[in-house]
Amino acid sequence: MHFIHLFLIIIISLQKKGNKYGTHRVVEPKGVLPQPAIRVDNNFSEIYDNEILCDVITLNIDSASFTDIKECAGNDPQKVARIMTDIVNQYGKHKNPRTGSGGIFIGQVNKIGDSLNKIDLKKGDRIAGLVSLSLTPLRIDEILTIHMDKDQVDIKGQALLFESGIWTKLPDDIPDPLALAVLDVAGAPAQMNRLVNPGDTVAVIGAKGKSGLLCCYQAKKKAGPHGRIIAIVHREVGKEDAENAPFVDEVIVGRADRALDLLQKVEQVTDGKLCDVVVSCVSRENCEMGAILITRDFGKVYFFSMATSFTKAALGAEGTRKDIQMIIGNGYCEGHADLTLNIMRKNAYLRDLYTKRYC
Ligand SMILES: NC(=O)c1ccc[n+]([C@@H]2O[C@H](COP(=O)([O-])OP(=O)(O)OC[C@H]3O[C@@H](n4cnc5c(N)ncnc54)[C@H](OP(=O)(O)O)[C@@H]3O)[C@@H](O)[C@H]2O)c1
Repeated sequence: MHFIHLFLIIIISLQKKGNKYGTHRVVEPKGVLPQPAIRVDNNFSEIYDNEILCDVITLNIDSASFTDIKECAGNDPQKVARIMTDIVNQYGKHKNPRTGSGGIFIGQVNKIGDSLNKIDLKKGDRIAGLVSLSLTPLRIDEILTIHMDKDQVDIKGQALLFESGIWTKLPDDIPDPLALAVLDVAGAPAQMNRLVNPGDTVAVIGAKGKSGLLCCYQAKKKAGPHGRIIAIVHREVGKEDAENAPFVDEVIVGRADRALDLLQKVEQVTDGKLCDVVVSCVSRENCEMGAILITRDFGKVYFFSMATSFTKAALGAEGTRKDIQMIIGNGYCEGHADLTLNIMRKNAYLRDLYTKRYC
């Protein structure tokens, strides 16, 4: 009798086995991975053996998505809250149906699945999830504060990371909102580190934005004193953030969606040679051709922007006879979190500027 009782307890407490990539949470359509899925299961009353459940503190909505949501809401925070809640209620995750993109969260670990007993994490640890909210099961119980100019939203709710999901513990020496802001775009400077060579001319489009300035910094570090960093900013307002940056060589005010105007400006400052590497960090659509036209033949364009259209880039490059390498902005790059947090530790200019902006 005693043995049967014990056996029942073991059976009841056994967690269900989950798929490494989280397909067990996909509700619709079955058989696809969580990112392309329409709907995922955000019922967290029981977790699978390979999941990490977190109590969310703040969401950082990716800039393309938040720009779109604010535009749809006419900049009204209450409407922003409604749109965000509707997205999560409908899809079980924060995947903006118009941009397809998400963001990241910070939170506190609540439960860890039994099969993850070897990872260096315990209940109560504060972490940042480093996979997109567009695939992360999420439940919003209450929206507490919407920081309209920071793309950040404090909530009560829970989010779940799969075994394949990446995360990092939040550092003690960097304030949470600052860490959250830069970790959201950590893939961008980390890719600059790989793509830029000494002596390169690099153009960063959307250069006064969060990822833009980080890219300028890392590009200069790689390009060195003989390299040249051209910061392309959308408008006059705020251009001094790029002008004052000690790692920027030239600032151009220009719109990437006005490709010919931008080309003319870049031709002027490069004596017609154009750029070896271009990174697009914009938050709005139709900027593909601006990036493509200012890249020299056989140069590289890194499309970090979530507002990038593969079709527009591929057919646009073909249509303008540009033989260039075009790279999709993979948000993950090994070591990206440490590299980006270290920029905040090492560079006083960016640390001060981003502290003012995001803290
Ligand atoms: N690949 C990934 O994994 C990943 C991860 C996170 C984020 N992202 C994406 O990366 C992009 C940048 O993110 P972020 O956080 O750095 O955004 P951000 O801080 O909002 O900066 C975006 C910048 O783009 C500028 N911009 C907008 N339209 C432009 C145009 N037509 N021409 C030139 N500049 C323009 C904006 O200028 P104004 O403010 O003056 O309009 C702003 O300075 C977004 O699309 C975001 O969704 C990608």
